Amino acid sequence: MWTRRTFLGGSGTLALALLSRVRLAHARSRETPSLAALTRAIEYGRQLRTGSLQNTEWQDRVEEELKSCSVEELAKAVALGKLRRAQPNVKRGAGIMRVRTTRPLLTEEGSDMKVFFFKKERSDPPHCHFNLVAAHIVLEGKFRVRHYDRVREQDGGVVLRPTRDRIVGPGDVTSISDDRDNAHWRYAETDGILLDVQQGRIDPTIPIRKRQMLDLNAATKVSDDLIWAPHMTNSSALRKYGK
Ligand SMILES: [Fe+2]
Repeated sequence: MWTRRTFLGGSGTLALALLSRVRLAHARSRETPSLAALTRAIEYGRQLRTGSLQNTEWQDRVEEELKSCSVEELAKAVALGKLRRAQPNVKRGAGIMRVRTTRPLLTEEGSDMKVFFFKKERSDPPHCHFNLVAAHIVLEGKFRVRHYDRVREQDGGVVLRPTRDRIVGPGDVTSISDDRDNAHWRYAETDGILLDVQQGRIDPTIPIRKRQMLDLNAATKVSDDLIWAPHMTNSSALRKYGK
């Protein structure tokens, strides 16, 4: 029986490699500027993991890439309509959907894209991240976004330096890394949607640690520019901040 392998014979591996290059070239010829920007964001994540880019450089570059995109086109690139129809009906916090695209965007270990759907007056509870960079563009709605540098962990909590407190709308971008604006607190002033582009496992030797919720309303002052916020569990953070 004829199969592709018997047809290709001994040069099958080379022919398949050529076929995949042709397919990639074809995909690139149909690529929109937004898809190209998302593809470059993944590439910056790869460079970060190999040490040829620093955390804050990733933040600056990916912020610029996302700002250069039209929000409408970006929404199309991530198939926002489909995600919106399939979003989970959460009682607290944000409904989170992973982006699936026809292009093989999610090819770097630890890279990910997610869409966060918010109802008015709900928060994604304040939290910090480890060994991860992320950038977020507002696709719809208005948010209050607060950021904090993670200075050190101490006594069942984290010492933080408040850095930014902004109202953002469609096309605005925020970002986090271990080195700048690590902790964040997103509050939806209106119904709204955020696209999250992230690269985790920057140092693959560090064990995976999930985001750590923080009780910022219970924070105490450490010095003129530092506060200490206690850790919270996910469920207690959602009860207190996710409403
Ligand atoms: Fe986060």
